[in-house]
Amino acid sequence: MTVQREQWTTRTGFILAAAGSAIGLGNIWGFPFLVGTHGGAVFVLIYLAVVMLMGYPLKATEFAIGRATQKNPVGAFKALAPGTPWWVLGGLLVLVPFVIMGFYSVIGGWALVYMTKSIEGFAPGMDFGGIFNQLLANPITLTIGHLVFMGLTAAIIFGGVIKGIQRWVGYLMPVLFVLLIILIIRGVTLPGAMAGLGFYLIPDFGLITARTPLAAVGQAFFSLSLAMGIILTYGSYVSKKEKLADSAGWTTFLDTSIAFLAGFAIFPAVFALGFDPAGGAGLAFVVLPAVFAAMPFAGSFFAFLFFLLLSVAALTSSVSLMQVLVAWGMDERGWSRRVAATIACVAVFILGIPVVLGFNIWSGVTPLGMNLFGFFFFLTFTFALPLGGLLICIFAGYVWGARKAQVAINEPRGRINIGNWYCVLLKYVIPILVGILWVVGLLDKFVF
Ligand code: PHE
Repeated sequence: MTVQREQWTTRTGFILAAAGSAIGLGNIWGFPFLVGTHGGAVFVLIYLAVVMLMGYPLKATEFAIGRATQKNPVGAFKALAPGTPWWVLGGLLVLVPFVIMGFYSVIGGWALVYMTKSIEGFAPGMDFGGIFNQLLANPITLTIGHLVFMGLTAAIIFGGVIKGIQRWVGYLMPVLFVLLIILIIRGVTLPGAMAGLGFYLIPDFGLITARTPLAAVGQAFFSLSLAMGIILTYGSYVSKKEKLADSAGWTTFLDTSIAFLAGFAIFPAVFALGFDPAGGAGLAFVVLPAVFAAMPFAGSFFAFLFFLLLSVAALTSSVSLMQVLVAWGMDERGWSRRVAATIACVAVFILGIPVVLGFNIWSGVTPLGMNLFGFFFFLTFTFALPLGGLLICIFAGYVWGARKAQVAINEPRGRINIGNWYCVLLKYVIPILVGILWVVGLLDKFVF
């Protein structure tokens, strides 16, 4: 007996779920943090180019592979290239979300902790950098945050794809958007904010290093949820009536807009309040509470709402990450959803513990000269995501065939069809560019 695969019930439901996967900590925490550490506006510029040139075509490609095969990543590559080792790529695509979840959940935990902190209230003059460092120094609080975050993720996953994910995203993302706008208005009107706008918008090309473009590629793939089987898996639940070129366009646009807005919420305030833009992974968690504290009234209420919504955005993303692991366990191992979800959640919880300890008790453990969080980050952002994207292009461009991919994306034919430029990007431009950036970025890190 074959069971009909679940399908998204509405078109907007699917786009919102794909956007819900994409919009998460990567936009509000990751993007500003990388802009800050990679020279400001030049990074923004390169990022936008990467999104258009590589992000959008890859997104459409992954959707198409998923829809054409109706399978999880491993099964999909087995189906399209039977008897070849390409399923290993599917395996890589399942492994990456696993490693990402190990630190994603810890940072999701930060958002939860900040939600409770905002109830106590943020006041002007507080030492926000100090508050954040205290959090990192405290393995118990970090572990509780990580545990609660994983527990909430598990609860949603247990509800199934449609009921669990689709319903909530549509209500909550618009509210997050409005809150970002409020934050921007407050940040931009602080005295001294203009310097931040300059940093964010006026590129200083002298600040580009060999690693900047690779960081942009990693961040773009991460933020768009590419190269880790998610979009592929989501595509496997899409009906044949859906225009994939459209869906890819909308989700890419929404995700990029939110990241871009997050920068406006953060950098003017960074400069106005005297923080260091290159402050690192804690940037959003240090700066935004300070902006809330600088609000004339109800700052703490808005802070609470904001961290609540950030947590929700992070949850919709983590659900999508876990979905890859669960789909793999169900399809390839024959586990029930419950069993697959339980195993995946417990494994991720355990994986997150070293990340937690790496900030404090194990801060002396530094593989390749990074703390454990940095190491996980490096493994995924710098190493695996660009590599995964590269391999997906080679697969779709040469093994499956760029034409077939193009046709699968354009099915059913309608107003907007993806043109032949797509094949050129897929076969030549993306693999060559990403390949070069990957090698140069890694050499720069280890050799020079
Ligand atoms: N794209 C999400 C974000 O920006 C995170 C994510 C990564 C979700 C990978 C799914 C897969 O936060």
